[in-house]
Amino acid sequence: MERLQKVIAQAGVTSRRKAEELIIAGRVSVNGVIVKELGTKVKKGDQISVDGKGIERENKVYFIMNKPKRCVCTNGEQEDRLKAVDLIDCPQRIFTVGRLDYDTSGVLLLTNDGEFANMMIHPRHHIEKTYNLTINGLLSGADIRRIKAGIVLDDGVKTLPAKVKHIVKETQKAQTTFDLTIYEGRNRQIKRMMEELGYQVRRLHRKQFGFLTISDLRQGEYRLLKPFEIKKLRALAQEGSYEHLIIET
Ligand code: URA
Repeated sequence: MERLQKVIAQAGVTSRRKAEELIIAGRVSVNGVIVKELGTKVKKGDQISVDGKGIERENKVYFIMNKPKRCVCTNGEQEDRLKAVDLIDCPQRIFTVGRLDYDTSGVLLLTNDGEFANMMIHPRHHIEKTYNLTINGLLSGADIRRIKAGIVLDDGVKTLPAKVKHIVKETQKAQTTFDLTIYEGRNRQIKRMMEELGYQVRRLHRKQFGFLTISDLRQGEYRLLKPFEIKKLRALAQEGSYEHLIIET
């Protein structure tokens, strides 16, 4: 059973807030009966109409994309910036699962399944995300220990222990490239972690989300997730939500 306004929004008719307005205005019927209650739940097979016109209930779709740089993860109007959702050719009203910054590339999931998206980004579910990044400066042993232990960010909240691997220091260019695995998805988390250590991020690429990589996709390319991948992601989120989760660094 799902809420009527959610089903209308997912059918691509309009946004959830506008759907609520339509319901209150008496423009929505379920199985031929006008419904004005916002809490109304509908089940598969119920015939929903808006202004007497039946809506098609939308199939759920799940994509993985190699997000290019210079592209935003929002559905809102953009003057001149490319949107990740516009790179995907599908009739459903999809959105990104969490966000990558404008200048970050790499693994991005997109779907029209809000429940799935929430599961993937919920902080309690600790889905592992691995980034490859280049910072200005030579990452010190002390900094690596701080990253592994967790860093208090500018909002006073400490990050969970993270993993650091494959460190390449380039003395001539005064920069370091490495893999960083985190278990949260706080706003601009990697850049803020590096800022706390006194570095700036020169390049940021998400190479893995859970077990998913994009080695088969060039920047801007995407594919549908396979049913077993969706199932495995859901299972990962559930495993990660256990209170006793211990992250080995
Ligand atoms: N951390 C960031 O700072 N930016 C991103 O895009 C993703 C993680």
